[in-house]
Amino acid sequence: MRNFQQARWDEPIIMEMGSEGERGVLMPLAEERVTDAVGSAQSLIPAAMRRKNAPKLPQMSQMQVLRHFLRLSQETIGTDINIDIGLGTCTMKYSPKVHEQFVRSPKMSELHPLQDESTVQGILQILYETDNYLQEISGMDKFSLQPSGGTQAIYGNVAVIRAYHKANGEDYRDEIITTILSHPGNAAAASTAGYKVITIYPDKDGYPDIEALRAAVGPKTAGLLITNPEDTGIYNFRIKEFVNLVHSVGGLCSYDQANVNGVFGLARAKEAGFDMCHFNLHKSFSSPHGCQGPAAGAQGVVAKLAPFLATPTVEFDGEKYYLQDNGEQSIGKLRKFWGVPQVILRTYAYIRSLGPEGMKKIAELSILNNNYLLKKMLEIEGIELPLAPGKRRLEQARLSWNKLYEQTGVGTDDIDRRIVDYGFQCFFASHHPRLIPEPFTPEPVETYSKADIDEFVAAFASIADEARHNPELVKNAPYKAALATQIDGEGLTDPKRFATTWRAFKKYVDK
Ligand SMILES: Cc1ncc(COP(=O)(O)O)c(C=O)c1O
Repeated sequence: MRNFQQARWDEPIIMEMGSEGERGVLMPLAEERVTDAVGSAQSLIPAAMRRKNAPKLPQMSQMQVLRHFLRLSQETIGTDINIDIGLGTCTMKYSPKVHEQFVRSPKMSELHPLQDESTVQGILQILYETDNYLQEISGMDKFSLQPSGGTQAIYGNVAVIRAYHKANGEDYRDEIITTILSHPGNAAAASTAGYKVITIYPDKDGYPDIEALRAAVGPKTAGLLITNPEDTGIYNFRIKEFVNLVHSVGGLCSYDQANVNGVFGLARAKEAGFDMCHFNLHKSFSSPHGCQGPAAGAQGVVAKLAPFLATPTVEFDGEKYYLQDNGEQSIGKLRKFWGVPQVILRTYAYIRSLGPEGMKKIAELSILNNNYLLKKMLEIEGIELPLAPGKRRLEQARLSWNKLYEQTGVGTDDIDRRIVDYGFQCFFASHHPRLIPEPFTPEPVETYSKADIDEFVAAFASIADEARHNPELVKNAPYKAALATQIDGEGLTDPKRFATTWRAFKKYVDK
């Protein structure tokens, strides 16, 4: 294990830096013949739009600016300097750097969404072909690439469910069923759309309870929103029965495939009977998201639901690519213009560079890595694998530190803070709901090597050991991080305690 020490710069904010007269770039004055011909640059700005006073900008050299931002970058444990396995359902996989060249190329970055379609045929072709690839991966018949993220894509699917039942004169259907260990975005999207949410709990074996579903379905059922594998990594082997049951009462079924890495090329939404699915194009198809970059979701449906998709979709008439307004039946717009084309371009590059065999390999590697990690984690005294014990997980696993907590008083939140001292960024808060006590959900996908996984496990083994011998050490962590104490849950919701910079944080700690 490395002896990690995070950068701790007592860095003023950039507006407080610089000194009078310092400059980054010295611009030459315009030559006389230029000003004679066009006047001064200022005179070209209408008087009403000119500033009365010069803006207060920091006066700094290029090196000072560069140093400032490089230092700040070292105060984070981002995906590129971290073995990012511990965020559970939000783990970021490797995003090939070559993709950045594509999205930052002027061919992409200088496009404007209001350009005439004839001048943006390249990106429209990429959007269209990405839609086709996603159809192939899922078996669905049409995708909208409009959503800004996974939960918005789920919301889009809920809106399709509502529009479909309305078109059939069945808008009395006001219940949506989900499972407690499906991603919480499913219940949230259904509830936001105004549906009553019925939640299925696991049966005695740890799988979504088919008998509970049988009791829940009825004439009011609008649909089923389900994640599979669930956020526990458990694959619901009765998924087809779940879908059939909901179909038997006239409901629609939507498959949350945000974490599709363990399923690529092995199973498809269509064969399980689903009417809809969604993918997180960030994360599963490369591209970091959350505070590390914008996200994009893809909403896919079977042919009978295509008219309801978010508008516009991208079509091809044999000669040119164009944006198609989906008309009156469409659920309307989820986002402006083309969705988030940079993330879609990375998705396209990811699929093209891997090909069908490569994508299947991703699934195999994700499952292998996860089960290796799981086996190693379970060798640590104090950690357990509740629900479906002894059964394999797919690409992630929800473990529990409950035994360690009962033995030492050190729980998942303490470990979450202490792991930062080992150089790993975790954020166990994503491991909701806490149906499993003291939860922890690692997800290595295909990104990490055996050595990375071993180092990650060794850090947790060391913390479990510390918990037994010196629990206070763990409870008061972190010590080697940029911030002495992480802001706790309350701090995140109390505006008076926000600290967006190291300095602001210090002021509030010193008080
Ligand atoms: C299974 C699952 N569904 C839905 C989501 C929600 O996606 P987003 O965070 O983009 O809204 C996630 C998050 O990564 C997820 O893991």
